[in-house]
Amino acid sequence: MPLISPGELRRQLESSAPPLLLDIRSGAERRIVHLPADCHVPLSALGEALASLPHDRPIVTYDHFGAQARRAARFLQDRGFPLTAALEGGLEEYARIADPDLARYPEDDPGAHLFLRQLPRPDTGCLAYFLGDWDAREGILIDPGRDIGPYRTLLADGSWRLAAIVETHTHADHLAGHAALHAATDAPIYLSRRSEARYPHRSFAEGDALAFGDEAVVVLETPGHTPDHVTLHARDKVFTGDTLLLGSCGRTDLGGGSPEQLYASLTEKLLRLPAETEVYPAHFGAHHALPERHVSTIGFERVRNEALTQGSLEAFVRYMTEGWPPKPADFDRIVRTNLEE
Ligand SMILES: [Fe+2]
Repeated sequence: MPLISPGELRRQLESSAPPLLLDIRSGAERRIVHLPADCHVPLSALGEALASLPHDRPIVTYDHFGAQARRAARFLQDRGFPLTAALEGGLEEYARIADPDLARYPEDDPGAHLFLRQLPRPDTGCLAYFLGDWDAREGILIDPGRDIGPYRTLLADGSWRLAAIVETHTHADHLAGHAALHAATDAPIYLSRRSEARYPHRSFAEGDALAFGDEAVVVLETPGHTPDHVTLHARDKVFTGDTLLLGSCGRTDLGGGSPEQLYASLTEKLLRLPAETEVYPAHFGAHHALPERHVSTIGFERVRNEALTQGSLEAFVRYMTEGWPPKPADFDRIVRTNLEE
């Protein structure tokens, strides 16, 4: 595998025919530092970007330490880009040897400050999430269930302060735990501006940021499963509720949903996120006819999710309206309770 040393790359970049620089890291790493005048194609998306790459110009792939860039360079060489090389030692070596002015990765990776705990309930197939700022000891809980014991234990064990309780939507399949958790912690409850909930809460809308310490989730309105559904975006992660499940998506016939709106939310918002974005859904497992997996990526779901590979709006609407199990007997009572308390 051809490697290019940091010194040689610097010389080539200052020449009249510089190589094409390809940053193959995630968007989150790229925000820390990247080389000027480069292109960004995450390793997971390289296969889709082949048509846009030149065959007659040298390409140099780079990453933090060099290992992934070598994989990327080999991948490109195998697909007809013989002039590809990887930056030896990655940005670390480049900053040390060739460009001392280049910003460095912080000693203490900021990614480590986002604390994420997935809180599954195997009896119901529900997934709640705790996100925290490690230093500030402040966090939020997304979609808590009625049994708040595990959340109280987590908060007490880590000396966490709960800054907010967030519901991604009005649930129709299980009783939500926001009321009990609010009573126990006094944390405010945040819901979509479209929610019809009658209990005290704060509303958020598209683009609003909900902060905890130095971290935040940003609201993406994703109606369809229900009219009030939101997805929460933090760094390279999305908490998709029932808008996007692993291998499928949430049915639209229980809480005033709309397959057409869901299609728009999926194709115009979620699928436009970078392929490496991690997907954290609200359900998993046999209880919901879903896989036992708890996490996926946008890139994986884009090609493997049954709902997302229907091929057209018409086919998607047919998929969402035919062949689903009968509505659960008590779903309307659950919705009413979840809106009132
Ligand atoms: Fe739901």
